[in-house]
Amino acid sequence: MRKFTLLTIVLVVLALTLVACGGSDSDDTAVAGGDAAAGDALYHQTVIGPASAPGCVTCHSLEPDTVIVGPSHAGVATRAETYVAGMSAEEYLRESIMTPDAHIVEGFTPGVMYQNYATDLTPQEIDNLVAYLLTLK
Ligand code: HEC
Repeated sequence: MRKFTLLTIVLVVLALTLVACGGSDSDDTAVAGGDAAAGDALYHQTVIGPASAPGCVTCHSLEPDTVIVGPSHAGVATRAETYVAGMSAEEYLRESIMTPDAHIVEGFTPGVMYQNYATDLTPQEIDNLVAYLLTLK
């Protein structure tokens, strides 16, 4: 009987530990499910999403210092974490896609970047784009 009780306690503690670990895992903001290769493909489409919105490459170049309509994305992953104090590169890049006017790159005008990707694209597609942008160091 005593053995059984001890075993029960051990199992309960183990279960609680697993629950606690699971909880902290889901708080993790890393682009866990982001697929950079899929993001790369999506980024290079000239038309994107069900509303046939303009694709990223219609406004952004990957050549350094080349402005099409928006800033070049060459090295954007490296710059991204320096723009806003307290924001990681991933947070900044995600925000730049979902709410483009939240922070405006110096020298550019608000309202020019397409504003509805947050509703046009699926959360998975946004994760993929962020994962791709994070490779542009
Ligand atoms: C109609 C033109 C246009 C399209 C299309 C567009 N952007 Fe932009 N984007 C801009 C402009 C202009 C800026 C600079 C103003 C600002 O900060 O919002 C910008 C800024 C950004 C920034 C911040 C860059 C930096 O150096 O800090 C990111 C990241 C970005 N865009 C990602 C994307 C992605 C990903 C797509 C495609 C899903 C996209 N953009 C489509 C015009 C566009």
